[in-house]
Amino acid sequence: MVRHAAVSCCPRWLALVVALFVPVEVLARDTFDPLAYIDPLIGATNGGNVFAGASMPYGMAKAVADTNSGSRQGGFTLDGSPVTGFSSMHDSGTGGSPSLGNFALFAYTNCPGGDVNRCAFPKKTRAAFGRFSESTVSAKPGTFGITLDSGIRAEMTTTHHASLFSFTFPNEGVDREPAQPLILQDLTDLADSRQDNATVTVDPETGRITGSARFLPSFGTGTYVLHFCTDFSGAEIVDSGIFVNSRASTGVHNLTISRSINGYPLPGGAFVRFNSGAEPILVRTATSFISPERACEHGEKEIPDFDFSAVSEAATDAWREKMSPIRVSAAGVDGSMLTNFYSGIYRTMINPQNYTGENPLWFSSEPYFDSFYCIWDLFRSQLPLLTITDPLAVTDMVRSLIDTYRHLGWLPDCRMSLNKGYTQGGSNADVVLADAYLKGLKGGINWDDGYAAVVKDAEVEPYDWCCEGRGGLDSWKSLGYIPVQDFDYKGFGTMTRSISRTLEYAYNDFCISTMAASLGKTGDKEKYLESSGNWQNIFKPDQPSRWWNGTDTGFKGFFQPRHLNKTWDYQDPLNCSNLDSASVCSLQNTGRETFESSIWEYGFFVPHDQATLIARYGGPAAFTSRLSYLHDASITYIGNEPAFLTVFQYHYAGRPALSALRAHAYIPSSFSPTPGGLPGNDDSGAMGSFLAFAMIGLFPNPGQNVYLITPPFFDAVNITHPLTHKTARIRTVGFDAAYKSIYIQRATLDGKDYTRNWLDHSFFTEGRELVLTLGRNESVWGTRVQDLPPSVGEYQGFDEGGGVNGSFVRRALWRERGGV
Ligand SMILES: *[C@@H]1O[C@H](CO)[C@@H](O)[C@H](O)[C@H]1NC(C)=O
Ligand SMILES: *[C@@H]1O[C@H](CO)[C@@H](O)[C@H](O)[C@H]1NC(C)=O
Ligand SMILES: *[C@@H]1O[C@H](CO)[C@@H](O)[C@H](O)[C@H]1NC(C)=O
Ligand SMILES: *[C@@H]1O[C@H](CO)[C@@H](O)[C@H](O)[C@H]1NC(C)=O
Ligand SMILES: *[C@@H]1O[C@H](CO)[C@@H](O)[C@H](O)[C@H]1NC(C)=O
Ligand SMILES: *[C@@H]1O[C@H](CO)[C@@H](O)[C@H](O)[C@H]1NC(C)=O
Ligand SMILES: *[C@@H]1O[C@H](CO)[C@@H](O)[C@H](O)[C@H]1NC(C)=O
Ligand SMILES: *[C@@H]1O[C@H](CO)[C@@H](O)[C@H](O)[C@H]1NC(C)=O
Ligand SMILES: *[C@@H]1O[C@H](CO)[C@@H](O)[C@H](O)[C@H]1NC(C)=O
Repeated sequence: MVRHAAVSCCPRWLALVVALFVPVEVLARDTFDPLAYIDPLIGATNGGNVFAGASMPYGMAKAVADTNSGSRQGGFTLDGSPVTGFSSMHDSGTGGSPSLGNFALFAYTNCPGGDVNRCAFPKKTRAAFGRFSESTVSAKPGTFGITLDSGIRAEMTTTHHASLFSFTFPNEGVDREPAQPLILQDLTDLADSRQDNATVTVDPETGRITGSARFLPSFGTGTYVLHFCTDFSGAEIVDSGIFVNSRASTGVHNLTISRSINGYPLPGGAFVRFNSGAEPILVRTATSFISPERACEHGEKEIPDFDFSAVSEAATDAWREKMSPIRVSAAGVDGSMLTNFYSGIYRTMINPQNYTGENPLWFSSEPYFDSFYCIWDLFRSQLPLLTITDPLAVTDMVRSLIDTYRHLGWLPDCRMSLNKGYTQGGSNADVVLADAYLKGLKGGINWDDGYAAVVKDAEVEPYDWCCEGRGGLDSWKSLGYIPVQDFDYKGFGTMTRSISRTLEYAYNDFCISTMAASLGKTGDKEKYLESSGNWQNIFKPDQPSRWWNGTDTGFKGFFQPRHLNKTWDYQDPLNCSNLDSASVCSLQNTGRETFESSIWEYGFFVPHDQATLIARYGGPAAFTSRLSYLHDASITYIGNEPAFLTVFQYHYAGRPALSALRAHAYIPSSFSPTPGGLPGNDDSGAMGSFLAFAMIGLFPNPGQNVYLITPPFFDAVNITHPLTHKTARIRTVGFDAAYKSIYIQRATLDGKDYTRNWLDHSFFTEGRELVLTLGRNESVWGTRVQDLPPSVGEYQGFDEGGGVNGSFVRRALWRERGGV
């Protein structure tokens, strides 16, 4: 038994904690440490839903204090809600129901009168003992700590599959009785989704608690079974037992419990009581999707000696290593900019999670990643960012996506907790695969299978397209659009979103076409290029847009829903926008024809053919003013992913300066490095990656080998490619930390004049140098047709020599700044 497995934790442990919280500059004056600028608490309230606790990069173990907030998707919140437990599995930034949070621990200094029945066991009643003051919360990459008002301090850190908690107790508990700590572990999860027949066993000799339970995924179908194994160290065990509902016994050590019929799983779990000592009690919880035995093995292997400082040091080192490719110049800029930046990058490596070796669904030697939550969010900038900063991780993720196709038949569009998540629009894994393919990711990816997977999305309709593939493929092929109230007898799903699905399917097909082109499949290339033009079939050139008070926006020509018989239906182009709180625009059966965004905003989602879109909108000037209206009238909302690319689409109209201006309009005003500072759900690290790319000044058009150039928010940026080890450098001349000089006057790439307003991925792999000369006025740099990013159609209607000339620039700029 573990009774006297004394842990010599304290001196080193304390020293490390102190070291962690001393600004790194003080310790090593000449070393810039990005970890000093990572605040995991950003997004811990106001709907950011981030996971704020301890994790390894892509780690399965994610330890944090869970609150009972209505916004507890990521476990911990800083909104005044009390802590109900300390659990080891989480997702980050998601909407949907709260994810995971299984098998929470909770601790009491004593049970009054020494009677276990006078401790509060159910999660609902524990909340009364979980109040805390925000000033006690400490969060750093790899560690998290909090002190409850009860005086109990909880610190936590993790390895890949195991969490180590350190509980320090006051000398006295309730009623001034001497401490006799009780630590319980319960069989529930954040969403109270536990199903029938969960089991738990506590070993009276060692205190080891093991168990298993079945739960529901938070935004998908099916169920999953998770197992755990918990061991204690640092104090003598007094007794142990199990609890059911509010009653407990030290005489019973095994439990199988039903969910019960009242919609809230009957509380149940196990507990261990300890003699108090001066030292903290260490609790090691490991989880596994395979078996409780596997969970115990993870714990024993990864945290053999309960050495808190060794585990937290290893976690910190892992994060420092992950941050090391990206170095920006701190010169002149406000520290808050650095914190926004590095914290954003940090959040891109929390989810997806690496469950390699932990997939009970099929046997494979391929990596298995989970928590693609959801690809609709991740394809835009998070996965493209990781392709630069951690290409090996994206390689593993792509292999995992392809392996999921191999074993389940389709690429996922969303996946969590070993289950299929709901598809939000198109089959956007197609974009992820094309992006990875074009950017040269290899490393064991079977691209033949990858190509077969994306073609299947385009060709074979799943019976149930709730959760993979595409619906309405017969109509897609015969009509060239997804009709409102489609007639589809082959596959079934929520029959809404006909506009956004049409636009996403069109872009997905474009991505397949580019892959086909590179693979030498000429027939497929032409075929999918043609269907990538299907967006034009739902464009209604005479469609006006009026505000709900009747005032005309002044713009004409919008996407509109279309019937099977090719006549038009109608959706107000402003509905489902940020300003419309009345419409239902998610996955409900009553949802609209656009998903989570308006026709106005989807009106720009033709990422592959901006030239034709610009012509449809009446030329570059009209396109530019429409794009500005979208932002200025707050029709778009930077807190949701469809807004991301719209910030930079001025590039396609020959106005890269306006992309820079717009980026600065959102950063920092909509993103502050504070707990409430995110404008919406982080959605894994989607918001974080938007920040990172925008601040580097190279925004991707995902699925294409294109990065749109804007000035960085820093004097200089270096990014060392983890595989080629070459360093891509961006340097500015005339950097202005007040961000008045945000217009590129001139650029050189590797010393040669460079007038294109975009560059490709070889910038990163080859380690090129981009030097940007900045000024206070928009210039002609990057404005000519030959400077614009690739587009399927031809750019038309641009002035001779470019989209812009001096007088036009000055007038437009004046309007941008509030003129009329
Ligand atoms: C739970 O256990 C009971 C009793 O053994 C059994 O009748 C029931 O089928 C089990 N339920 C599930 C979902 O396994
Ligand atoms: C409790 O469960 C363990 C593990 O399943 C088993 O070995 C043990 O015999 C059980 N004890 C009782 C009292 O049922
Ligand atoms: C980038 O790398 C260059 C060359 O090694 C170096 O001189 C410069 O200081 C680096 N810049 C930053 C911001 O680290
Ligand atoms: C994922 O986990 C496996 C198994 O532990 C490991 O081999 C692999 O390197 C991990 N991948 C990443 C990107 O961390
Ligand atoms: C109608 O609403 C729009 C958008 O809020 C506003 O700009 C416009 O002034 C309003 N018109 C009238 C007549 O109130
Ligand atoms: C086309 O279909 C719509 C929706 O079913 C219907 O309202 C409309 O009358 C039809 N129009 C024609 C010309 O058939
Ligand atoms: C469109 O949005 C407006 C403003 O929120 C709302 O009043 C109207 O009911 C919505 N229309 C539909 C059809 O949902
Ligand atoms: C920049 O713009 C300002 C304001 O429009 C103008 O006064 C100034 O002359 C311009 N500077 C240059 C170098 O064109
Ligand atoms: C500059 O642009 C304006 C507006 O498009 C146009 O009227 C004018 O002729 C252009 N001047 C030159 C020199 O191209």
